[in-house]
Amino acid sequence: MNKDEIIQQKYIQKAKAYVEEYKKLIGHEPSSCVVTFGCQMNARDSEKLCGILEKAGFILTDDENADLVVYNTCTVRDNANQRVYGRLGFLHSMKKKNPNKKIVLCGCMTQEESVVQKIRESYGFVDLVFGTHNIFKFAELLCDMFSSDEMVVDIWEDTDKIVEELPTKRKFSYKSGINIMFGCNNFCTYCIVPYVRGRERSREPEDIVNEIEKLSKDGVKEIMLLGQNVNSYGKNLDRDVTFADLLRMVEKIDGIERIRFMTSHPKDLSDELIEVMKDSEKICRHLHLPLQSGSDRILKAMNRRYTKESYIDLALRIRKEIPDIAITTDIIVGFPGETDEDVDDTIDVVRRVKFDNAFTFIYSKRTGTPAASMEQVDEQTVKRNFDRLLRVVQETAREAVSKYEGQVMDALCEDVNEHDPALLNGRLSNNTIVHFPGSPDLIGSIVPVRLTECHGFYYIGELCRK
Ligand code: 5AD
Ligand code: SF4
Repeated sequence: MNKDEIIQQKYIQKAKAYVEEYKKLIGHEPSSCVVTFGCQMNARDSEKLCGILEKAGFILTDDENADLVVYNTCTVRDNANQRVYGRLGFLHSMKKKNPNKKIVLCGCMTQEESVVQKIRESYGFVDLVFGTHNIFKFAELLCDMFSSDEMVVDIWEDTDKIVEELPTKRKFSYKSGINIMFGCNNFCTYCIVPYVRGRERSREPEDIVNEIEKLSKDGVKEIMLLGQNVNSYGKNLDRDVTFADLLRMVEKIDGIERIRFMTSHPKDLSDELIEVMKDSEKICRHLHLPLQSGSDRILKAMNRRYTKESYIDLALRIRKEIPDIAITTDIIVGFPGETDEDVDDTIDVVRRVKFDNAFTFIYSKRTGTPAASMEQVDEQTVKRNFDRLLRVVQETAREAVSKYEGQVMDALCEDVNEHDPALLNGRLSNNTIVHFPGSPDLIGSIVPVRLTECHGFYYIGELCRK
């Protein structure tokens, strides 16, 4: 444990005493609810928040009627911010009925000065606001909150600290995310992430391996290595270690059956990584490789540092080396200056790479990023191009996903289907979901499933013997 970890363990004890007092005040066991917005990194952060809340004496629930509610926010697009403001209004009405309710706001949104200003001015009922760099201080901040009558705000500009050995409460028993690096140095011109998550910092490989070994002993079968750009893992470490090296180390850990990772930047994806994936028994047959645009002119303006043809070359090379791989992507429509011809180029890439799935986003102007001061595209053009792209994406994805109809593949049973309790939701190595009849005690195990019917993005299947 490092110094910060030891200090925070002490604050957890202190927070416990505050929670005891709070329990007397409210007259029942205090409950807490953490709501996650945004990506896998936030989901992992929420597990840490839950771990500390539980250790401090809160019961965890999914109900926002809880005594303490945490919103772990995202700010990658403006609609994420608007959703949080809307829901804060809803929490306010709850707090009017229950004045002892505590409201906490953290995550990427709070790293923006304008957001904190707005919270101070118009959302005075919020009790605690902190950012992404000091999340490890949550126990200490809870103590500050309980001992203050005013809103507590603690936001750090940046950090070089890595504080990971604190309690976590995993959402799933059989799978887990692991942070391998934090922040991003790429400064794509539309993206706010480098401003709110700070500079790139990699964790030492031994720390990552130790954490995964512990998870494995705990029954975890599938892990997801997390970072904004995992392909540049190790670049800021003193020793020579690449992401491919890290994967080789993780592959050796007994008990771990599946390895995933997120997200890869095409400009940094090495031949060595393709080799490691190809030879691996455990690395899943899925690669998320954000394209963003297929137009060289727009890619340049986005500062993505690859071209349309180099992206296609890379994707087709990966498909050739690993034929059963699924390639998914992110695409932005409506970046400043984008014309119909630029979108034609993007559509051309979609047709040639035949993505298994693509997340399509309408460009959202983020204050402080270079693209915010570029000439914006009118809404109608964006909408028209977005619909045009989406149609092609759906067509190619349906074709790519349905290739395996009739085959038997291993699925990790994740949970009971929310619409039909007789069905389980399973995930294939290539990340496609399959729903099939099965007993809940299969949850957490990997079973062979026949993919009987493809329904666009998912399958209906049946359990079988190979
Ligand atoms: N507008 C729209 N989409 C964005 N993304 C990142 N920033 C923006 C923005 N300003 C998308 C990118 C990225 C994904 C996580 O979110 O496609 O890959
Ligand atoms: Fe944002 Fe680009 Fe970094 Fe991804 S690589 S987080 S899109 S700046």
